[in-house]
Amino acid sequence: METKATVKQVTEWVKEAGKNVRKSLQHPLVVEQKSGRTDLVTNIDKMTETFFVDKIRTNYPGAKIMGEEGLGDKVSSLEGQLWIIDPIDGTLNFVKQQENFCIMLALYVDGTGELGFIYEVMKDKLYYGGRSIGIFCNDEPMRSPLDTSLQEGLIGMNSYMYVHNIGNAQKIADTTMGVRISGCAGIEFIQVIRGKQIAYLSNLAPWDFAAGKILAEELGLVTSGLNGNEVDLLQKNLFLVATKKAAKEILSVFD
Ligand code: IPD
Ligand code: CA
Ligand code: CA
Repeated sequence: METKATVKQVTEWVKEAGKNVRKSLQHPLVVEQKSGRTDLVTNIDKMTETFFVDKIRTNYPGAKIMGEEGLGDKVSSLEGQLWIIDPIDGTLNFVKQQENFCIMLALYVDGTGELGFIYEVMKDKLYYGGRSIGIFCNDEPMRSPLDTSLQEGLIGMNSYMYVHNIGNAQKIADTTMGVRISGCAGIEFIQVIRGKQIAYLSNLAPWDFAAGKILAEELGLVTSGLNGNEVDLLQKNLFLVATKKAAKEILSVFD
């Protein structure tokens, strides 16, 4: 795999997918419930996942694909090349606000993160990169955020964890300068890698964190399970991304 060529190609796919998503907002969405009334999928989630699955199958025929909407493969091992797709991250925002959602794509090889892409569709901002090329926002290199402590910053959290005080989430939030809840994991990762938030904690599926983990780690941030262990890319995890200082404090309080 030639990394630069792959980045160029995938950037084009993501931009094209985003353009199609923006265009789709001119027509009524077809919305269905998955596990309940707040877990939605639209025709555009499915259209976007199909778009990426077709591109990957054509250009990377030996690769495996894990897609949130199940249009890829049934993946049970991390061996080889694995593409992980979240076609629309923040579907509730997509349906209710027509903004504040992302397209996310990641490439792992034998379980190691190679490339991550988070595209904030309505802002036309693409955050991407990996360990061999660095991290960029719309082609501008990004620098590591400052190692800010919990007391000095804002924290992002999933609303369920905050409201139900999962693992002492409210105590952690109380130590910070304030809580922000965006409803989109991709946007939370963007806020942390840009140094606008010192951490984000949530209960995330692999497609929610696959891209963000790669971008965050390359920028010197900590990612882990909220038990302090390495996360499992094949299942849901209580997930943390944070500055080094904030991660230490959060992991000592979370239980
Ligand atoms: C969801 C969003 C949300 C997070 C959920 C995710 P989806 O993704 O990222 O912010 O709290 O855990 O499932 O379903 O809209 O792709
Ligand atoms: Ca999704
Ligand atoms: Ca998601």
